[in-house]
Amino acid sequence: MSESMRVRRCAVLMIEPRERLELDVAGLFGGAQALKATCQWIALAPHLDAEIEIDEAELAALGRLGETPWQEYVTLASAMPPGVLDRLLEKGLAIGDSARYADIRTRDENVRACYWKPLSAVAHTFSRWSEAGVDDDVRITPHRTLVDLIREYGLPPPHLTERAAANERIGLPASDGSALDALFRRRATCRNFDTQAPLDFSVFGDMMKRVFGCHAATELAPGAVALKKSNPSGGSLHPLEAYLLVRRVENLEPGLYHYHVTDHALEPLALLQPAEAETNARRFVANQDFFADAPVQIALVARFRRTFWKYRNHPKAYRAIVLEAGHVSQNLYLAATELGLGAYVTAAINEIDIEKAFALDALQESPIAVCGFGARAARRSMVELDPLEAVWDADGVRR
Ligand SMILES: Cc1cc2nc3c(=O)[nH]c(=O)nc-3n(C[C@H](O)[C@H](O)[C@H](O)COP(=O)(O)O)c2cc1C
Repeated sequence: MSESMRVRRCAVLMIEPRERLELDVAGLFGGAQALKATCQWIALAPHLDAEIEIDEAELAALGRLGETPWQEYVTLASAMPPGVLDRLLEKGLAIGDSARYADIRTRDENVRACYWKPLSAVAHTFSRWSEAGVDDDVRITPHRTLVDLIREYGLPPPHLTERAAANERIGLPASDGSALDALFRRRATCRNFDTQAPLDFSVFGDMMKRVFGCHAATELAPGAVALKKSNPSGGSLHPLEAYLLVRRVENLEPGLYHYHVTDHALEPLALLQPAEAETNARRFVANQDFFADAPVQIALVARFRRTFWKYRNHPKAYRAIVLEAGHVSQNLYLAATELGLGAYVTAAINEIDIEKAFALDALQESPIAVCGFGARAARRSMVELDPLEAVWDADGVRR
């Protein structure tokens, strides 16, 4: 180790005391508790993108390392039990200023430069999936019916909240006659796409313009351009980009694309064989085949730096971006419904696989949700919530 090296802690670090439960057979037969709990210290540092187990000496040493000032390695090491500082350096939790630690230092500097609020960075990084399938989670697999869930969990909390007696409520007028009312009533998450029909190119273009395009780009200060889009955006910064996986759209080869917002154009990133496109589609939506069937999938990818430029280390900034994805997806549903198409949104996505496919660095740009749209199948085979029979008739035939 270079004697002249200086060291500081990584910028963002949370420590979780984690319990691991094991069946204690000896204890069980000895009349004691059947479950044995062991506790671990888990370091959650987003720049490492992996959980790191640490011991108590390392935990105590981390408590003595500042994240801002650089300190002499020699002085620090001599104040800790032997080997502890070296282990923290090797684990990437302590950062050295020598060439040996250049890669990890760059990742740490990227986190600093992005102005992440530490809690948000940890929540974001460690809730991402890779190669997961919804069936992996036995609690929410689509093959588990509502009746199964109620049998195990009891009834869910009631479907509404009541805070006053019925005779104290003030009735409100309601219109159900406008075109918008009719549109809302026909909106339903589509899990039954036509698996063959290509999407008409002009319909595809209209959808992209309405949902992801801009109506104006205006320079608010020299070099600072604001976009006017269909959805509201925290700080007017519009951090969400559309990254597309095209399977069946007229005039487009199957592949990966990025939407250029002011040119209203697609930027081809990689062409895919139809089978590869299908594999990617499934992986993106965690094996929800009924969504992967859509002719086009769109990852709503946040550019964190854009929003955090204004809302630096802000506790609400990440939340604002997540909310914004909801606005965009609702617009996508409504635009699709108006055109007689089906649409979906899902948060059950393999963020890490999507980042790899589009070459994104998770702490700079990462998907918040995936949406898709396209023609519905003639008959319904997967469940949809359509109690008004606005989309399907009683026999499951498309209206
Ligand atoms: C943020 C979000 C995530 C969702 N994720 C899934 C999902 O992973 N799988 C799925 O089948 N539906 C998903 N949905 C759709 C909901 O299941 C659907 O909205 C709900 O059942 C009500 O049906 P409706 O949209 O037709 O009114 C999601 C909806 C939202 C808003």
